[in-house]
Amino acid sequence: QRPLWLDCDTGHDDAFAILLAARHPDLKLLGISTVHGNASLENTTINTLSILKAVGREDVPVYPGAAKPFCRSTVYAPDIHGSSGLDGTTCLPSPSATPVTEPKAIHAMYDALMRYPGSAWLVATGALTNVALLFAIYPELVTHIQGLSIMGGAIGSGFTDAPMGHVRGEGLRFGNHTSYAEFNIYCDPEAAKSIFSNSTLAAKTTLITLDLSHQVLASVEVQQLLVGDQRALVTGQLSNVRHLFYQILVFFAHTYRDVFGLTKGPPLHDPLAVAILLDGLSEVIQFNDNGGERWHVNVVTDGLHSDLEAEQGQVGRTMLTQAEEGGVRIPRALDRFRFWQILDECLERAEKA
Ligand code: BDR
Ligand code: CA
Repeated sequence: QRPLWLDCDTGHDDAFAILLAARHPDLKLLGISTVHGNASLENTTINTLSILKAVGREDVPVYPGAAKPFCRSTVYAPDIHGSSGLDGTTCLPSPSATPVTEPKAIHAMYDALMRYPGSAWLVATGALTNVALLFAIYPELVTHIQGLSIMGGAIGSGFTDAPMGHVRGEGLRFGNHTSYAEFNIYCDPEAAKSIFSNSTLAAKTTLITLDLSHQVLASVEVQQLLVGDQRALVTGQLSNVRHLFYQILVFFAHTYRDVFGLTKGPPLHDPLAVAILLDGLSEVIQFNDNGGERWHVNVVTDGLHSDLEAEQGQVGRTMLTQAEEGGVRIPRALDRFRFWQILDECLERAEKA
């Protein structure tokens, strides 16, 4: 089993990342830290505990991390995830477990990852504040982890043939929160910059950008695959956990349709950052050129979040240059059929728990 720590801001797609991390037999989920992002830290923490209860893994400890970015105000995403961060469900269980506040998240992450030198992964599916703090406080950790997997960033310019250009408003380009910026990077761009500018860490980093996640749309067919027999919805035979994940997808599909006009289904960003840990990466994610392609990532930090109003801000944009050595790995394609199948199998395991 591959040990991993998950750092997330539990909204709809983070819930699937938790499902995969908690219920795949090849993965050993050591703990979860929560961060501001889709909603307040308080909400993302409760959402995380509720999802762990739903998948029968309340044994996984949950540590609340940073409530705010380094040097900006918080940005939430109520139009995508609702005000709770996980709106639209009727069967989300109330957690019995409580968040662990001692030791603090950063120290718990360090201790857990150091217990598996050379083999542990850190997966981040929210704003990067906790991750940046972790490597600032414990720089030596970089040499002990096997990898860092991040969902964040947007490249555009034909990097993949993902159907980009569905972003909100007129004249917008390839980001999802602004013309240029993907939400997780936008929330705390200084934190993101500190990670990508650490060359040792960057060389161990895999980045799942919107260019990839927009190839993985949870279409109506996918929603029905995950829900199994459609009739079970009305006969009430659907298990609680499957019903919950179905409702999560349906809500997410509605907000993506309303906000972005994306009618083919919502991109399921976050579980991809977990999926790349699965054995034989090529089974799920195909890297260009045998994984040899590497990039330097520069994050635009000039400008205020309020520049958005003026439609001129590029803060949170991820700019790429090809790296001769070192550099971040950015998958361009994946086997999405296998990916949905893997999620379905995880739901099956959660049902049996
Ligand atoms: C990212 O933003 C969040 O709203 C999602 O959970 C995902 O992590 C996609 O841009
Ligand atoms: Ca997220």
